[in-house]
Amino acid sequence: MTSSDAGGHRRDIPLPQAYRLLNHGPTVLVSAAHGGRRNVMAAAWAMPLDFDPPKVTVVIDKSTFTRQLIEASGCFALSVPCRAMADATFAAGSLSGAQRADKFADCGLDSFAAQRIEAPLVEGCVAWLECRVIVEPHHQQAYDLFVAEVLAAQADERVFAGGRWQADAPAELRTIHHQGGGAFFVAGETVQAAKPRG
Ligand SMILES: Cc1cc2nc3c(=O)[nH]c(=O)nc-3n(C[C@H](O)[C@H](O)[C@H](O)COP(=O)(O)O)c2cc1C
Repeated sequence: MTSSDAGGHRRDIPLPQAYRLLNHGPTVLVSAAHGGRRNVMAAAWAMPLDFDPPKVTVVIDKSTFTRQLIEASGCFALSVPCRAMADATFAAGSLSGAQRADKFADCGLDSFAAQRIEAPLVEGCVAWLECRVIVEPHHQQAYDLFVAEVLAAQADERVFAGGRWQADAPAELRTIHHQGGGAFFVAGETVQAAKPRG
């Protein structure tokens, strides 16, 4: 295939930065609870995997305390934070709860009870997915990749309605998308593509 770069703008990206070309899906907060402990961390590497039954994947590093609680309980929650929660989200992604009595409080986060799982949901977020792990030992060990079925989901109707994220949502309630180093894009305008012809 012929390569063209008429504008001369295309640049090679160092491979260690390649992930950042796909890093800006919505950042989520992953929470879990087990044996009287609970915890929360940030994750940028979460994505949908299937429609019905709904499944998701999320990468949870072996070094995290959250992973210990997920592996012990078999469940986790994904809460989708908004612009107003950028500081708390970055804190949840920078501190570890391993040696803390309550990482939620240390990050300025409140929680409320989930419908189907023990893991708490994060107050002030704009969407929540309650997930049960589908155990895949090889993927978890080799790639830190967790596959899970979504048992329940909720969203803030000011931001997500009619099955879609709303373009006119209040600024503080828009989702955040990690660029790196605690900088986030905030979800913005909608572009409606023309209907394909033929
Ligand atoms: C914006 C952001 C996104 C992150 N995404 C991920 C991720 O997808 N997977 C992961 O394992 N760690 C991710 N991290 C790092 C964890 O959130 C971090 O290691 C956290 O301190 C773990 O907390 P814990 O030990 O209390 O569980 C991210 C951090 C930030 C700031």
